[in-house]
Amino acid sequence: MNTKLAIFASGTGTNFVALADAIADQQLPAQVVLLVVDHLDIAVIDRARERQIPVFYLDYKSYANKQAAELALVAELQATGVELILLAGYMRILTTTLLSAYPNRVINIHPAWLPNFPGRHGILDAFNAGVTETGVTVHYVDDGIDTGQIIKQVAVPIEPHEDLATLENRIHAVEHELYPTVLAQLITTED
Ligand code: GRF
Repeated sequence: MNTKLAIFASGTGTNFVALADAIADQQLPAQVVLLVVDHLDIAVIDRARERQIPVFYLDYKSYANKQAAELALVAELQATGVELILLAGYMRILTTTLLSAYPNRVINIHPAWLPNFPGRHGILDAFNAGVTETGVTVHYVDDGIDTGQIIKQVAVPIEPHEDLATLENRIHAVEHELYPTVLAQLITTED
């Protein structure tokens, strides 16, 4: 049986596309049943519509608080039969309201070698720190900022005199390979 995935995203959606393509190429025994977004003016929505994947817009401002927003989201996820949640550039911290409904079922990809350089600017922070190596991390999500249990990491060396744009491109290329591969292993092991 194909695992029913929800992907949460806030931006361009290149990881969303990498995951959807891996599914289409039958490298991943899964199906994306929902894209969850927290904004409406983002390119990932177009990527979902092109693939006939339903989009759920969580308008946090329209709820009394974050807990109420997450409860509405959990209701939608459960109604859609979502079994596993993948964060792919989702720029919100999730709380135990959602996480307790999906224990060990929420996964994130981060563009740095955690625990180094957590947060919004993992690539830039590593670049500015002048380290010679950074990486990509796939990890379970807890209610901290990029602090959950690590599933898999790949190191990415930073070449001398490399510019930020080149590093970003190389890290994203690693992400697009790593996320579907790790998920395929997880899903297959669970079956
Ligand atoms: C990726 O670098 C991901 O690791 C980070 O946010 C970025 C999202 O990029 N959490 P995209 O929207 O998938 O292109």
